Amino acid sequence: MSEVNPTKTGRAMKLPVAGAQALVVRANQLLTMCEELADASDPEAIKVGLIPDGAVWIDQGKIKWVGRFASLPHQARPLPVRTVPLAMPALVECHTHALYWGSRHQEFAIRNAGGSYAEILEAGGGILSTVSATATASDEELKSALLERLELFRRKGCALVEVKSGYGLSHEEEIRHLRLMREVQSVAPVAMVVTYLGAHALPPRFKMARHLYVDEIVERSLPQVVAEGLADAVDVFCDRGAFTADEARRILTRGRELGLACRIHTDELSHSGGCQVAHDLRASSADHLDYAENPDLDLLARADVAAVLFPGVTVFLDPPHRPRARAMVAKGVRIALSTDYNPGSSHTQDLMLMATLGCTLFKLTPAEALRGITRVPAEVLGKAEQYGRLSPGSAGCLLAAQVPSFGALPYHMAAPELLERIGY
Ligand code: NIG
Ligand code: FE
Repeated sequence: MSEVNPTKTGRAMKLPVAGAQALVVRANQLLTMCEELADASDPEAIKVGLIPDGAVWIDQGKIKWVGRFASLPHQARPLPVRTVPLAMPALVECHTHALYWGSRHQEFAIRNAGGSYAEILEAGGGILSTVSATATASDEELKSALLERLELFRRKGCALVEVKSGYGLSHEEEIRHLRLMREVQSVAPVAMVVTYLGAHALPPRFKMARHLYVDEIVERSLPQVVAEGLADAVDVFCDRGAFTADEARRILTRGRELGLACRIHTDELSHSGGCQVAHDLRASSADHLDYAENPDLDLLARADVAAVLFPGVTVFLDPPHRPRARAMVAKGVRIALSTDYNPGSSHTQDLMLMATLGCTLFKLTPAEALRGITRVPAEVLGKAEQYGRLSPGSAGCLLAAQVPSFGALPYHMAAPELLERIGY
């Protein structure tokens, strides 16, 4: 059974609900991710909206009621009850580059022998090599590769996954990739959000006249993307070797005018000024932030721009800087964690592992890390009503875990045998 829901762009979106059969899930620890539903006094337990001996009543693929099992409404009492140690919302992956072709394992070896990500990109490799490989792949090849990857995200616990374009880098190829994503969306095993990232790298043919590529994006591609309903958001890679803050501002401003949500990759390789742009345009998120400084974090806090952080990139590229997650928390910046799944800088699809690494590398608490793979990414994608929390009306997609308490979830490093999907 699936249910059709309109997205911001008015397109049909399939909710990945497994069955209409009504059911109660009872958990010794129920993590609702809604602070107002918490039945606890410990601040960490409040962050995950903990209800001890909690219950969720799922009906027609949606949550009808959440609370203490003892207060379950009498209409739900005859229903089958699944009892699990811990239950939480299905995971939400808010940042992937999952439509691509080819492998970059040679670069992985070059980097480990001392080469840098930025040097490889400047020399025409990196993103540009994936662009060349992706151009050789047929529509069918790209669609089935994307579909397989989405299925793996589902098996690893995700119910909603964002996918970006950005390995086309010409008007025609970017439009082709976005159309393929929309085709895949209608049959995908998870719900999807699509982001247009035409400004992922500067195509070499524009090296001597970079403004012409920005013109193409602003004057030609963005209007067509919106006219065809091909994307929900627009993103720019604002960094050394990619696009400047002024270029990002121009692209995102146009996207915003056309009704798209704005995202920005910034401060991954250098301090690049993208936080000011994110602030001014009220972006949904600023992603990476390894080089972001205190004033940048203040800007994000002031405009309520969420930070999206990637422990997988930190592990994969082993860069000299790390995002200052504790300072972000102290300033009230919401943090999402993501795999950044892509063939170059983070080749993993394991979001639960990102929660573990978010704790070890960025010093998040388990509660912050768990919010970072559920509630906050759903907010970033504009889907917090349906995903990332357990509250009446949201999708009946739950992740159950064989652990005694939520602090033990990130403590287990990539332990799929402990996880079970319910409803998707
Ligand atoms: O988010 N930083 C830019 N884009 C991706 C990497 C893409 C690639 O290397 O192919 C990222 O890390
Ligand atoms: Fe990325």
